[in-house]
Amino acid sequence: MKAGFIQFAPVFGETERNLLTIGLLLDGLEADLIVLPELCATGYLFTSRREAELLGEEIPAGRTVQALSGLAGRRGAHIVAGMIERAGDRLYNAAVLVGPGGYIATYRKLHLFLEETLWFDPGDRGLAVHDIGPCRVGMMICFDWLFPETARVLALAGADILCHPANLVLPFCQDAMVTRCLENRVAAVTANRIGTEARGGKELRFTGKSQLIGADGTILRRAGETSAEVGVVEIEVGRSRDKALNPYNDLLGDRRPQWYGSLVKAQER
Ligand code: ACM
Repeated sequence: MKAGFIQFAPVFGETERNLLTIGLLLDGLEADLIVLPELCATGYLFTSRREAELLGEEIPAGRTVQALSGLAGRRGAHIVAGMIERAGDRLYNAAVLVGPGGYIATYRKLHLFLEETLWFDPGDRGLAVHDIGPCRVGMMICFDWLFPETARVLALAGADILCHPANLVLPFCQDAMVTRCLENRVAAVTANRIGTEARGGKELRFTGKSQLIGADGTILRRAGETSAEVGVVEIEVGRSRDKALNPYNDLLGDRRPQWYGSLVKAQER
């Protein structure tokens, strides 16, 4: 199957314009699965929760899911994209999965980064895997990369490909995702954004380098740091389903969870 990323610079607060850009970048693209960046229709650097709230949308009724569903239908593809979810008085940094038949699922970011903790509520739905036909996908968002439990839980749930919308500002994630793939034998698509946002006296520069990684840790495609780019590669899904490392070792079967208790003890914060 073919999987791809779209890397671009969303313009803050300009949902319609960003959806138009996404449509243009998707035009003519042949892929079964396409991943877009975190908060790809709105931008990232909010100055208040109210601002994020005004740009948030109900899922699936809102404009962004409707537009993405239309694009998925036209391209005959599944799309994973980051967006703000407004659910009553709750606000989530979310990712949606849509397919040719429309909306499928939402993931709410579990590990919020920096001031996201002021604008968004932490995810409250856990991690899930969705069978889209050619593969099973799991969604995680940006900073989730630093918590290896995220990718592990998705691998244990049967994910073949980690779909990873991102707005990365630190330089480590792209290399770390190689390890996430190796240690779980899953493929990953990290769709990062480019450009800078300067708002409320703050400035962020996003690091680009969106990438597709195979289940053996091979970097199949990595974008540049500053250019809008679309990357598509063939992913061999069977590689994610074979967890045998050698005749003696099985990646998931060799785990010793009875010794990992401290990993799952809830900590008060
Ligand atoms: C991030 O989680 N957007 C760094």
